[in-house]
Amino acid sequence: MRKLVEKARIQHHLTKEEIVLLLNNADINDDLFKAADDVRREFVGDEVHLRALIEFSNYCRCNCKYCGIRAENKLAERYRLKREEIINYARKAVDFGYKTIVMQSGEDLTFSTEYLTQIIREIKTLNVALTLSIGERSYEEYKILKDAGADRFLLRIETTDKILYEKMHPKSDFENRKKCLYNLKKLGFETGSGCLVGLPEQTLESLADDILFFKELDADMIGIGPFIPHPQTPLKDVPHGSFELALKVMAITRLLLPDINIPATTAMETINPNGRFIALKSGANVVMPNVTGGDYCEKYEIYPNKAAVDYSELTRKLQEAGRNVSQEKGFRKKG
Ligand code: 5AD
Repeated sequence: MRKLVEKARIQHHLTKEEIVLLLNNADINDDLFKAADDVRREFVGDEVHLRALIEFSNYCRCNCKYCGIRAENKLAERYRLKREEIINYARKAVDFGYKTIVMQSGEDLTFSTEYLTQIIREIKTLNVALTLSIGERSYEEYKILKDAGADRFLLRIETTDKILYEKMHPKSDFENRKKCLYNLKKLGFETGSGCLVGLPEQTLESLADDILFFKELDADMIGIGPFIPHPQTPLKDVPHGSFELALKVMAITRLLLPDINIPATTAMETINPNGRFIALKSGANVVMPNVTGGDYCEKYEIYPNKAAVDYSELTRKLQEAGRNVSQEKGFRKKG
C-alpha cells in the first residue's frame, strides 16, 4: 500500500484498481494525507486562496434528490438578489481583501445572460477574478458569459456513475452535464468540478472513476464534499457521507492532479468541527467563505447547519497553521 502512495506522489498516476485499493484500506490513511500535503506544498505552496461566495438566488429548476433548494421543496423560502445587491456584496468582499468573487445560484433562468453580463462587467471593474456557478447552460450562453469577463466556472459532475447520476437527478441528462464541462474548458474558463461522497448505492469503484474523470477533463479546480441529508428531500433518512472517505477522495485527487486548486469544502467543515483545517493539511489550498448576509445565507440551505466562517478568525487561524492568505487572484499555475 505504501508503494502505491509513493507511486502516486511521484508519478501522479494510478489505475482505477489501485485507487480502489487505497480507498478500501484504512491503515494507509495517514500516509495518504501526508503525501497529499507534501504534493500540495510542492506544487501550489503554503498560501491559501480565499474565494468570496455570493449565493445570489436559491430558485432552482432542478430536482436533485439530495439538495435542499430543489424545485419541489415547497418549504424553501426563495429569494433572488438584485443586481445592485450582488454588486454591493462584491464591493464589500473586495474591501475585506478577497481577490475572487464567486457568484453561485440554483439553476435560475430568470437571470438571463444579458442581465448576468451587466453584473459580470461591473464586478470585473473591481480588479478581481470572477467565478460563476449557475449550472447547465448552452455553449452559446457560456460563450456570452466568458466574453463578458467571467474567468472561471464551477459545475460539479456530482457522480460519474451514469445510473446513479440519473437516479439522483430526475429528468437530467448525464451526457449533457459532461458536455457542459467540456464546453467550459473549450471556451477557456478555468473549470471546476467535483463530486459528492456518500450518495446511496455509490461504490468505491465509482469514486475511483470520478477521480479519473477529473484527470481526463484536466479540471482546474475540484471540490469534494460528503453528502449531508436535508430533511425536506427524498434522501432525508439516508446517513451522511463519511468525512474520512471524502478526505481520501480529495487527497488522491491532489496526488493525481498536483497543481490544481482544491477547496476545503463547507460540507467537510459541517460534519467535522475541524474539517476545514484537516482538509487544508490533506491536500486542500482554498477556502470559500460565504459573504452573503445572514438571512440569505440561511435560506440558501442546500443542506442543514451549513458551517459559517468569520474572515478575521479564519485569517488568524490560517497564520497559526503556517498558511498565509494569498494576495493574488489564485489562478491555476500549470506545473
Ligand atoms: N449535501 C452535501 N452537498 C450538497 N450539495 C448539494 N446538496 C448537498 C447535500 N445535501 C453540493 C452539490 C453542489 C454543491 C453546490 O453543493 O455537490 O454541486
